[in-house]
Amino acid sequence: MAIEIIPVPDLGGADKVEVIEVCVAVGERVEEEQSLVVLETDKASMEIPCPKGGTVVSLKVKEGDTIGEGDALIELEVAGDTVADVTEAEPAAEIAVVEAPAPVVAAPAVAVVSKKMVPVPDLGGADSVDVIEVCVAVGDEVAEGDSLIVLETDKASIEIPAPFAGKVLALKVAEGTKVTVGTDIVLLQVEAPATEVGETSAAVVPAEAEAAIPAIKTPSPTASAPVPAHIAASGDKAYAGPSVRKLARQMGVDLTEVAATGLRSRYTKDDVRGYVKQLVADVASGKLSEGAGIPQVPEIDFSQFGDVELVKMTKLKKIVAANMTRNWLNAPHVTQFDEADITELEAFRKSMKGEAEKRGVKLTPLPFLLKAAAAALAAEPSFNASMHADGEHIVQKNYIHIGVAVATPAGLMVPVIRDVDKKGLWELAEESNALAAKARAGKLLPRDMQGGCFTISSLGAMGGTGFTPIVNCPEVAIMGVSKAQMKPIWNGTEFVPRNMLPLSVSYDHRAINGADCGKFFTYYVSVIGDIRKLLL
Ligand code: COA
Repeated sequence: MAIEIIPVPDLGGADKVEVIEVCVAVGERVEEEQSLVVLETDKASMEIPCPKGGTVVSLKVKEGDTIGEGDALIELEVAGDTVADVTEAEPAAEIAVVEAPAPVVAAPAVAVVSKKMVPVPDLGGADSVDVIEVCVAVGDEVAEGDSLIVLETDKASIEIPAPFAGKVLALKVAEGTKVTVGTDIVLLQVEAPATEVGETSAAVVPAEAEAAIPAIKTPSPTASAPVPAHIAASGDKAYAGPSVRKLARQMGVDLTEVAATGLRSRYTKDDVRGYVKQLVADVASGKLSEGAGIPQVPEIDFSQFGDVELVKMTKLKKIVAANMTRNWLNAPHVTQFDEADITELEAFRKSMKGEAEKRGVKLTPLPFLLKAAAAALAAEPSFNASMHADGEHIVQKNYIHIGVAVATPAGLMVPVIRDVDKKGLWELAEESNALAAKARAGKLLPRDMQGGCFTISSLGAMGGTGFTPIVNCPEVAIMGVSKAQMKPIWNGTEFVPRNMLPLSVSYDHRAINGADCGKFFTYYVSVIGDIRKLLL
């Protein structure tokens, strides 16, 4: 057994390059040609193969390091005598023995150059398909497997990978054109060992080529044999070309979290896009409401501080908890506060008590708050909207349904009163009484809680001077009502006692601006202050 240092071989002109992946671990048995590290320049990524089999004793580089030719990569334990191994089995250009600390500079790499046309491979039956993306430009260096173009059929998009590494000499297709099997895509200039290129090559072979060893593992050009464009199953170790890595970096995606579905276990851009799409869908659906990159609250054994008992959460409480978290995380909240003078409103409401009793209805401030909200939603339509799931549209609603938060023994429920703008105060009083009773009895049906445009959460009967309610997404705003109380208000001449109602409005700042809320709120407060305005 001997210990050898495996150095970075000739990088074909690249100077200092970044280690983007270390493919082996200490103690791992590696085979000859197995990738040790992946390096990345601004043009291409390359895998550095192990020149011989052995066991990894130590790693000399880590991800993120910048290294150059001759730098030590790994310490490898190999069978047999060190010097004999190196001199007989491997060229000194690739391996430096322990006893010879200065790595020997690699001999010039093979410079046999040929031009090869890359055609559209078998498309699995698809006939004439659209080119939706051209991923390379003339002059680009592409590695084997790098996407050249993306095609789209009515069923899927397909990336066509380069069947071998090379430099793009000419592009034969453009975005928006149609191609079929055999259509030329690009003309590549390919470098390869003389033995593989043979006499057909148009290359100039330098005199020293015979002695040269290809320094970087470059897949052998396979003439212009078509590469099947089907999606292959993921393998143990997946590979991503530079364009895919770049996309992943731009999107902040950790590729180890992504399943590779490309040819020979390669990541495709669609793998990265699909991963992000799924993540967004999971967050939107609440599946990832916890743990999506948010630090978890530590689990604590409270019994160490005193007597505790575990109380099971009701199903409703758990749903409310998930919804609140989802809404809080999705909607950037802003809350504004104001006070409405409800002195006249309360005088009127109290004057109607007898009438209310006759009707068997409890007339609280709530129907007035609902009616004023309907008027303000009509006056300021940005509040009567929802964000569209596509992130590019606002859904403007031409109906006015308002939810009322009801505290029930099982948890919070929000039944919805439909067409509030079209209903009178008595009707609203009856309906809100009935829905609140139904909620407390646990008899609300799903449809009773659907379709709300805006929510009113009234804690007025309980007290408090103000609170910041959480928007009931996909609605874009919610009103919090606190306890009215008499206050001395300056009327320009003197302080007069007025019944002041504290109100707050939280809104989704993606859909509503502060100025919109200012208009909505001012109008709302003026209507509540003088309910005759509802008749206007
Ligand atoms: N200021 C002072 N008094 C108020 C008031 C306010 N803002 N709002 C209501 N009141 C009074 C009512 O007038 C009534 O008094 P009265 O009988 O003398 O007329 C009393 O408080 C009780 O009213 P209540 O029965 O609660 O009726 P309501 O129509 O005001 O409220 C609900 C109905 C369903 C909204 C309410 O019962 C409820 O469940 N609120 C909780 C909502 C909640 O938990 N939100 C938190 C979400 S985070």
